[in-house]
Amino acid sequence: MTSTLGPPPPYYENRGFQPEPPYAARPAAGAHPYPQLFSTNPPSVPSYIPRVATHQSSRPAAPPPRRTCAASLRKTIIIILSILIVICCAIAAFFIWYFVENHCLSSLIECGSSGVCMSPSQWCDGVSDCPNGEDETRCVRLFGPNFILEVYSPVSKSWYPVCHDDWNDDYGKIACKDMGYSVDTYFYSRGVPDVSFKSYMKLNTSAGNIDLYKKLYSSGSCASGNVVSLRCIECGLSSKSVSIMNRIVGGSGAVLGQWPWQVSLHVQGTHVCGGSIITPHWLVTAAHCVEGRLSDPHSWRVYAGILNQDEMLFRSGYKVQLIISHPDYDTDSKDNDVALMKLETPLSFTETVRPVCLPNPGMMFQPNQQCWISGWGAEYQGGKTSNNLNYVAVPLIERSRCNSVYIYNGMILPTMICAGDLAGGIDSCQGDSGGPLVTHHHSVWWLVGDTSWGTGCATPNKPGVYGNMTVFTDWIYKNMQANR
Ligand code: ARG
Repeated sequence: MTSTLGPPPPYYENRGFQPEPPYAARPAAGAHPYPQLFSTNPPSVPSYIPRVATHQSSRPAAPPPRRTCAASLRKTIIIILSILIVICCAIAAFFIWYFVENHCLSSLIECGSSGVCMSPSQWCDGVSDCPNGEDETRCVRLFGPNFILEVYSPVSKSWYPVCHDDWNDDYGKIACKDMGYSVDTYFYSRGVPDVSFKSYMKLNTSAGNIDLYKKLYSSGSCASGNVVSLRCIECGLSSKSVSIMNRIVGGSGAVLGQWPWQVSLHVQGTHVCGGSIITPHWLVTAAHCVEGRLSDPHSWRVYAGILNQDEMLFRSGYKVQLIISHPDYDTDSKDNDVALMKLETPLSFTETVRPVCLPNPGMMFQPNQQCWISGWGAEYQGGKTSNNLNYVAVPLIERSRCNSVYIYNGMILPTMICAGDLAGGIDSCQGDSGGPLVTHHHSVWWLVGDTSWGTGCATPNKPGVYGNMTVFTDWIYKNMQANR
């Protein structure tokens, strides 16, 4: 097992543009992923060959009955063949429509409208794979706690904020779609005073009705001095403030609406794991929750906006359509312990059902940043699932410290983050997995991590270990985009 020990960094820095190891090779999906269904040679139609009689019979007046029979047989064959041709044309038309309308099969992203499809891992990875390079020319991200929209320039290989001059909501919606959001959740585009940017992306308004990204050019100035702050969903709001009193282990009972993104994931009527709502269709959970036979979406039911497990038993819950586990998840080390669940029907957001914000690259979490965990997990090691939702405050613990010999001795990889009290007494526990580790910053709640593992529960010097969500934000967006 490798570890990255070094001098303690001053903060947890999130880097948004992190090339991922390539995904497992997929069969190339070209323009014709379907086998040819029918021959390109037109079906042969039997032709009528007139025959010449060479022998005059004694009764020439009677027409040969065989001939009329053969003629009507041919007629039937022609009719049947014509019907078959019409059916084949209809099928061909369907496939043509399919590729024009739906372009790429799910889990792949289309290069513009070229019909060429790319795996999400090839999108914005710094290498041009699409015929016209679209996989590197429409790369957008939201940076920092103010959701500053940035566009990647493959030429200078860096990210630029977008100048707010001439920007409007239609452009904002395009950028949100390119991150994997649906236009239905679009919240706002706002100009915010620029904080020390030297270069910008500006809109060329005289460029006419062309693609947004073709209208953007890099410039050293921005007249208004404002850059675009883009919100693709109204996330991270809780209707209840947390009382900072300190079950989970050592926690308190939650009230409705306090952790509105928290969901309970059931298999056969039993709570198994937690999860967090990020959009009406998508939840984040842990990859270890959906391993083996639990990778079947049909196994799961999702409960949102309910505090007690008892009450869930009387409800039907939401069905799951798709489960995507991180391709580099490792069962033994718990490296990349994150998964996405897509619901069959979207959640309706209310006071008690709401999404949490995914952390943007460039957010800095302080070494001891106060965070909160919530879940229906055991209230002590070896205990059973709690009936009510519990929460507790846990500070983050620096990676270098958490990797020290007397704590986790190098087991904390860059995809993980530790939180808890080294004195013990407060922690997540069995059943909390997949659930949220959140922090409140710039008046919104951010998903810092997903509950992953720990040695025992609330044991001194064995804090909880969580998936480091900032590292996964990019993977999450690409997969939402490929499976919209
Ligand atoms: N793996 C556990 C689960 O599946 C979560 C364990 C968290 N442990 C801890 N000590 N924080 O629910």
